[in-house]
Amino acid sequence: MPTLLRLDSSYDDAASVSRALTATFATAWLAGGPDRAVVEHDLRTDPVAPPGRGALHWAPGLRAPDAVVPAGAEAAHARVLDELLAADAVVIGAPLYNYGLSATLKAWLDHVHVPGVTAPFGGDEPRPLRGRRAVVVATRGTAHDDDSEADGRDHALPVLRLILGDALGMDVHVVAVDRTLSATVPAFADQRGRFEERLAAATAELRELAART
Ligand SMILES: Cc1cc2nc3c(=O)[nH]c(=O)nc-3n(C[C@H](O)[C@H](O)[C@H](O)COP(=O)(O)O)c2cc1C
Repeated sequence: MPTLLRLDSSYDDAASVSRALTATFATAWLAGGPDRAVVEHDLRTDPVAPPGRGALHWAPGLRAPDAVVPAGAEAAHARVLDELLAADAVVIGAPLYNYGLSATLKAWLDHVHVPGVTAPFGGDEPRPLRGRRAVVVATRGTAHDDDSEADGRDHALPVLRLILGDALGMDVHVVAVDRTLSATVPAFADQRGRFEERLAAATAELRELAART
């Protein structure tokens, strides 16, 4: 059964723009066939703890010979990894928090990047996630366009591209929406029109992307 993993990491609930957009993508993707299924993992209500030991970053055969990993930590790590490996595609809500990833999404990423398992490590290890689609819905409170004050200060997207794309070999598509704070913070209200325009375009882009996934 084709499966989409929908991963949300916004600290907010109903007001979250990234949640609304990952939902849009999931609904459009489900419409593509009767046997499709979406697995929802909300990192706000069901957070993933950071890996219990640094050794979990490596395939078992690459770990230091004296590395000790408690069975519980190994099992928790395997659950996160298996959830991604079982998915044919993933859509990730990735809000920008203090110029970086949400803490919960960073912990998730620390589990799924495993040299020797999901990423190569100097050999010809298979990359099981290679070519699978990863749609990243990036939401940012202020403007990050070229020449804006915050241009170049998004340190979340480069990490996601590097790990999901370069390391894991996934087919990464980023759909970003800026100026989300204009909907709630009076000081940014003058940017609301541009936010709403971008939101509508992102919604259409995600529906179209879902139809091709
Ligand atoms: C703790 C925190 C830190 C934030 N830091 C930034 C930031 O560095 N840059 C930015 O553009 N917006 C920042 N924002 C605004 C969020 O990126 C914005 O509200 C976004 O829409 C959150 O995603 P969501 O709508 O899916 O919840 C921050 C918000 C919070 C709560």
